[in-house]
Amino acid sequence: MAQIVLNDVRKMYGNVEAIKGVSLQIADGELVVLVGPSGCGKSTLLRMIAGLESISGGEISIGNRVVNDLEPSERDIAMVFQNYALYPHMTVRQNLAYGLKNRNTPKDEIDRRIEQAAKALEIEQFLERKPRQLSGGQRQRVAMGRAIVREPAAYLFDEPLSNLDAKLRVQMRVEIKRLQRSLATTSVYVTHDQMEAMTLADRLVVLNAGRIEQVGTPIELYERPATTFVATFIGSPSMNLLAIPTSSGNWSMTQTAAVPAAAATLGIRPEDLHLIADAPQAEAFTASVKVAAVELVGAESYVHGILADGSAIVFRVAGRSRIEMDDVVQIGAKAADLHFFNASGARID
Ligand SMILES: Nc1ncnc2c1ncn2[C@@H]1O[C@H](COP(=O)(O)OP(=O)(O)O)[C@@H](O)[C@H]1O
Ligand SMILES: [Mg+2]
Repeated sequence: MAQIVLNDVRKMYGNVEAIKGVSLQIADGELVVLVGPSGCGKSTLLRMIAGLESISGGEISIGNRVVNDLEPSERDIAMVFQNYALYPHMTVRQNLAYGLKNRNTPKDEIDRRIEQAAKALEIEQFLERKPRQLSGGQRQRVAMGRAIVREPAAYLFDEPLSNLDAKLRVQMRVEIKRLQRSLATTSVYVTHDQMEAMTLADRLVVLNAGRIEQVGTPIELYERPATTFVATFIGSPSMNLLAIPTSSGNWSMTQTAAVPAAAATLGIRPEDLHLIADAPQAEAFTASVKVAAVELVGAESYVHGILADGSAIVFRVAGRSRIEMDDVVQIGAKAADLHFFNASGARID
């Protein structure tokens, strides 16, 4: 059980600053997800917490103990990677026991922990098998089992599900969440997948080019993104961003929309736009859209359209759309669903 505190943490690779001063407090038992595009520094930050990467500046503490100069083995953490690297010649049981034997854990205790982990992960029936006799998902579970039996103060996950197919990824995501809840062990989970991040996290940390863009619960980031970066990164399809002021005849805002003086960008989520004919009401935003493509994704469709100035906009319609390519339709949004950002991309409230 431990909280993890990062204070102005930095990482230099030669002259390049990969992590540019990150401060973050992770509470005991919390599941925090670091999310951001490839190359933003997620793995570097996680590896610094683990002790696999040196710290160029700042301080990291785990459970009230500064760990900057401690070896990975002295930090009481367990890491789960994308490449789970089980020992192929050992059975599942031997794989789970290996790290504990190295630490001279008594046999009774090893058996107890393996039994408990195997039960939690539902791999009891595979304990005598070799890794090659398991599916990808089962192997990933064993890799997680290896972390669980350590009973560490914290778990660190680096994209552990990236090698699994889409269906299994969703299933494992639910299991990790359930498991983390029941173990109540502090966890830091890295992913580039915003959907995985949204569904797993107690709190999300959005990283961009080595800096924190925003920290908050998934719903806070979805409803009130602090920057245009977060606005377009969280949510799928991405939030539409339109330049203010509009070119004439492109789209318009009525009196119900209070546009802040400093606003340079208007943001509207595809799911907050609707056909005006379907929902006649006082609109804050209206636009005339020429339809370029319609994507049916099951329970809903996404319509990709073009505004009068040629800029693109996406909006959602429920169910199977009757809209077709080259149709011209009117869409609108309510005042409460408009997001405004200044010229540097910061949210204006
Ligand atoms: N060992 C290294 N030497 C030099 N640059 C590195 C090294 N590891 C990572 N980087 C750079 O640091 C940045 C962050 O990398 P990384 O933490 O792996 O990103 P992410 O995990 O978010 O994809 C990238 O620009 C990457 O090229
Ligand atoms: Mg990475």
